[in-house]
This record gives sequence, structure tokens and C-alpha cells, in this order.
Amino acid sequence: MSVATLAVRLARFDDLDDPGSRGFDPAGQGRDTLLLVRRGHEVFAYLDACPHYGGTPMAWRKDAYLNGDGTRIVCHAHGAQFDIATGECLVGPCLGQRLTRFDTAVTEDGDVCVFMPPDSAPTCNEAGGEKVRQ
Ligand code: FES
Repeated sequence: MSVATLAVRLARFDDLDDPGSRGFDPAGQGRDTLLLVRRGHEVFAYLDACPHYGGTPMAWRKDAYLNGDGTRIVCHAHGAQFDIATGECLVGPCLGQRLTRFDTAVTEDGDVCVFMPPDSAPTCNEAGGEKVRQ
């Protein structure tokens, strides 16, 4: 069974640091609930929710989701480290568990789209972005 998704434009690819990460609040919850990580020509999207402890937000300050050399996503609560491409926990208290990943695409005009379940997708105004497909 396939799950319906909405594609939501969240950022300009060229505005993301490489490597770099940025948090977003696509559902208008008042805090970042989704993160993008750019690595070279790729971009990955995950829920900002650590599998170790009840979906804990992972950044220690705004947009700070990576380790010092930008090679892994880090949960700063207890130091879990996650593979950027798969979201799998490689070091820390949730070994073998994974972050919740969303598919991404970069449009021809350079926008990063994240394919999200409709119940977590925003309206256009809430996201500051634009729905591009249903
Ligand atoms: S809550 Fe993320 S490592 Fe513990």
C-alpha cells in the first residue's frame, strides 16, 4: 500500500551550506520539527526526533544538527550519531535505530522539495513555502 505525500518546497539548494544542516517548522508547531542536511550534490530530510528517547529534538542550537566535521547527524541530548544518508544510528544509545526519513528532490530551478505525509505537511502560508504536487 502506498502512502500519499505532498511535496513541499522548503529551501533553495544553493542556500544550504555544504556540508550543512538547517531546521524547519513546516507544520507551524512553533519549533523546528524537520531538518535538511546537504552533503555535496545531495540533500536529505529527517524528522527532528531522536529515536532514543521519545522523539527528542536533536539540535543544541538553531540549525546545529551535525558533528564538528559535518560527517554525521548528532543528537546533542545524549550524543547519538546518525549516518547522513540513511539516518541509521552508528554510535550512541540507540544503535541500530533510525531517524524518520522523507524523500527529497531538487527542482530544475534549484528548490528543495520534501515529500511529506499530508497530516504533517503545512499549508503554503504556514510553511513559507509552496506545495508543488499532490
Ligand atoms: S535523546 Fe537523542 S541520544 Fe538520547
